[in-house]
Amino acid sequence: MKLSTSLLVLTSLTASTLARVIGGKPNQFIQPYKREVLQDIVTWDEHTIFVNGERVLFLSGEFHPFRLPVPSLWLDVLQKIKALGFNGVSIYIDWALLEGKSGSFEAEGVFALEPFFEAAKAAGIYLIARPGPYINAEVSGGGFPGWLQRVPGRLRTRDESFLNATENYVKSISEIVAKAQITNGGPVILLQPENEYTSADETVVPEFPDAVYFEYIQEQYRNAGIVVPFISNDARPAGYFTPGSPGGVDIYGYDGYPLGFDCANPYTWPDGNLPTDRNTLHEQQSPNTPHSVLEFQGGSFDPWGGLGFDQCSELLNHEFERVFYKNNYGFGITLLNIYMIFGGTNWGNLGHPGGYTSYDYGSVIRETRVIDREKYSELKLQANFLQVSPAYWTAEAQNGTNGSFTDTNALHVTALLGNVTNFYVIRHSAYNSLDSTNYKFTAPTSAGNLTIPQLNNTLTLNGRDSKFHVTDYDVGEYNLLYSTAEIFSWKKYDSKTVLVVYGGPGEQHEAAFTGVDASLVEGSGVNIAKKGDATVLNWPVSTSRKIVKVGEDLYVYILDRNSAYNYWVTDDIILKAGYLIRNATVDADSLSIVGDVNATSTLEVIGGAPSKLTTLTFNGESVAFNQSSLGVVSSSLSYSAPELDLPDLSSLTWKYFDTVPELSNTYSDEAWTSASLDFTYNSHRNLTTPTSLYSSDYGYHYGVLLYRGHFTATGEESTLFITAQGGSASGFTVWVNSTFVGSWAGADYANNGNVTFNLPSLTSGSNYVITVVLDTTGLDENWTVGEEEMKTPRGVISYTLSGHSSQSDVAWKLTGNLGGEDYIDHTRGPLNEGGLAAERAGYHLPGAPTDSWNDVVGGPLAGLDKPGVAFYATTVDLDIPSGWDVPLSFVFGNSSSTTGSNGTSAVYRAQLWVNGWQYGKYVHNVGPQDSFPVPEGIWDYQGSNYVAVALWALEEAGAKLESFTLEAGTPVKSGYGPVTVVEGETWSKREGVY
Ligand SMILES: *[C@@H]1O[C@H](CO)[C@@H](O)[C@H](O)[C@H]1NC(C)=O
Ligand SMILES: *[C@@H]1O[C@H](CO)[C@@H](O)[C@H](O)[C@H]1NC(C)=O
Repeated sequence: MKLSTSLLVLTSLTASTLARVIGGKPNQFIQPYKREVLQDIVTWDEHTIFVNGERVLFLSGEFHPFRLPVPSLWLDVLQKIKALGFNGVSIYIDWALLEGKSGSFEAEGVFALEPFFEAAKAAGIYLIARPGPYINAEVSGGGFPGWLQRVPGRLRTRDESFLNATENYVKSISEIVAKAQITNGGPVILLQPENEYTSADETVVPEFPDAVYFEYIQEQYRNAGIVVPFISNDARPAGYFTPGSPGGVDIYGYDGYPLGFDCANPYTWPDGNLPTDRNTLHEQQSPNTPHSVLEFQGGSFDPWGGLGFDQCSELLNHEFERVFYKNNYGFGITLLNIYMIFGGTNWGNLGHPGGYTSYDYGSVIRETRVIDREKYSELKLQANFLQVSPAYWTAEAQNGTNGSFTDTNALHVTALLGNVTNFYVIRHSAYNSLDSTNYKFTAPTSAGNLTIPQLNNTLTLNGRDSKFHVTDYDVGEYNLLYSTAEIFSWKKYDSKTVLVVYGGPGEQHEAAFTGVDASLVEGSGVNIAKKGDATVLNWPVSTSRKIVKVGEDLYVYILDRNSAYNYWVTDDIILKAGYLIRNATVDADSLSIVGDVNATSTLEVIGGAPSKLTTLTFNGESVAFNQSSLGVVSSSLSYSAPELDLPDLSSLTWKYFDTVPELSNTYSDEAWTSASLDFTYNSHRNLTTPTSLYSSDYGYHYGVLLYRGHFTATGEESTLFITAQGGSASGFTVWVNSTFVGSWAGADYANNGNVTFNLPSLTSGSNYVITVVLDTTGLDENWTVGEEEMKTPRGVISYTLSGHSSQSDVAWKLTGNLGGEDYIDHTRGPLNEGGLAAERAGYHLPGAPTDSWNDVVGGPLAGLDKPGVAFYATTVDLDIPSGWDVPLSFVFGNSSSTTGSNGTSAVYRAQLWVNGWQYGKYVHNVGPQDSFPVPEGIWDYQGSNYVAVALWALEEAGAKLESFTLEAGTPVKSGYGPVTVVEGETWSKREGVY
């Protein structure tokens, strides 16, 4: 162990040194020097991290609290992660949500992190904090608040105005995270400064990768009280900022997304996409730190117009996990974070333009928190195995080769050599092969070199599969001489030892134990024979379970993989059960199990039950059980789905508000912001208009933006050309006075629309106003340093009004959300509101004064017969029985049949609010999302809910929703306990509404 020395490579700078360096010569690196040990709880050597002196195999999943704004559900997700056999979670923190106005940091209500830290502690999960300040994360601005568009300094560089802009956030968030460090009893064990600082336009940032900048960010955290080790996430293993180098972190880590993000071909694994030689690279780059992968692909993002997350979860499915994750383990990786483990939702405009509302990510846990994807179960098998295999944690990874250890070049084997136990990761040499390949496996063991199988002539590796074989594997007092079947878990109890192994369909497996006899005690089809000192078991995989008693008290459960999926491991017990086991407590003669079922399920505790069980409870209720002479406890968990009486949205009465009152000739935009700046603060793009129309120059960044252009007609106007930019899939509609002149429907490939509209004839000398309603889809990220993409402006970018020689003939005003950066609703944060009149007035909030509005049965299903934006609100009463976790989603009918003109598909978009929370943006003509899950907690499942829909018809013919329903997924009978409805601001009359 190198506990003390490895801690010392921490660097320090005083603020004044930094100021000097920043003002100094460009390539002036700060020399790291030794600094006193900051803490001794989280340490590491070349194999693993240690927590309190104990080795930890850190298996982690990425989960963004801000993408599930229901704090009382955080523990649910964390327990589902823990139940995988994971012990870690990595969190991004989104600056944009916490400092909507420069200098005003707020992290309260749903944005408070303390409840998340408490939930992590309760779940037994360690955290990696990733507060940025840049995070990427497919969030608006990559986590940068909109006001950074006005900061002149180059983003993510040592430019002083940029660094200054980060100070308040980093200081404020660090105070919160610092208190939650493990040194203060909290769950945070590591912190990642910056994020994927790996790509740059080096023509404008020649000092890249800039150690001065990278060091500065770390120093900000250190100065604000962060003492846990820093870990990095190079976007690829570029070797930037390895420990001991200028700007180096404590533990080097990198990211990997080997199958990419093309969900269009979910069954295609391109040649050459499997990482190789990563162990050698790690030894070169950072030999004294654990091999760490901070983000490894757990799914994929999906853009507007994409194919939907079900297809992404197919591409990144259980087979992907088998081949790619086991390939990782073959490199000896002991700190692994899967991105995402639970994606969540881009509610309230928090996403970037490259994605839509759902951030399901095709990940292990669905956006609805449902865990029915096979990749969940597969990952559970892998993680549990590694957690009970301490020999893996320190094994030396070897270079894999084709044809080694087997009798065929079609297979590739990577050995991980321990002191006694060896591990072999086997896959096809052509990693994407669909072949089933027969082979024999030859490896050294304590009984000499053995060629396996010994009793039957062949093993088989199916296509897109990869396996661990082990030799001399420690199972308590027993030596598993070898096994070709994979291990799920094992544990030694007072009265017996239990080992669970599994194999895939159609396979034959063999395992052997040293120096003991064996006999079959359940099932059939296991050939048991002596070979020298060992007893060999050989069997074909089948769905009927086999139990072999080995020696005095080892019970080997032999399963097929699908059956193994139903097994769970808690601290104390190993059991077969249904959908989810959250935890189990053994107390004297009683056993209490907490879990969820989605079907009537068998419960069977195969290890860890009290030998004379008197009471068994499931979710607090006593259940009948049998206990066998071997101590195995069997029971049945009943399930009977409740009748759900969900409201029919089409028969509800909705209240209607015309949310483009600007079209009325009596409307006054007096209170709007004048677009009077004759320059822009934006350093990224020069103006192409006489005054700036960039929304960020005036503090408006998110959701719908509106522009009003006043002019006096010459009578010569025939066309109006407009470029308006809102990001991918953005759209806009233009009126002159109340006359509709046209729309840009939006497209996935376009960040802006450039449209020439024909104008009606205008009367010379009369005053007119152009109204532009622009839907934006978020601010761009800033992945490549130097490109300044985050500063890509939103709003009207250019315009030409024919019949006018000067653009200045049009005087513009604009608005977005009421108050701009002085936003009104602090409970839902700075991004939840856009600029629609209904939003400015707060009519999306519960308690809105809808009494005087007209009634429309079916609301958005009745729709509009002309272009415009209609705001509909109704009350949805729910009565979902407590104790049931029922996923609810709004589903927009997306048939290509139509309500549009001329039989074409109608062009419309919609926004959705539940109890004031913007929980969906639907773009009918772009897609792909038409099902919008909304979690309990945003919903009140036992009460009245205020639901609003803004329907925007972009075409002459108007639009109506083709269908719009509230749909439930399979109800899960849950032991989780009650979910608290989040408190959000309710409607009150707003000052200065216009
Ligand atoms: C950055 O902040 C420091 C300290 O407040 C100040 O002196 C300096 O002028 C600021 N620099 C810029 C470019 O804003
Ligand atoms: C793996 O191969 C590389 C050369 O490609 C070599 O430098 C390294 O030492 C090898 N590693 C092991 C563990 O044999």
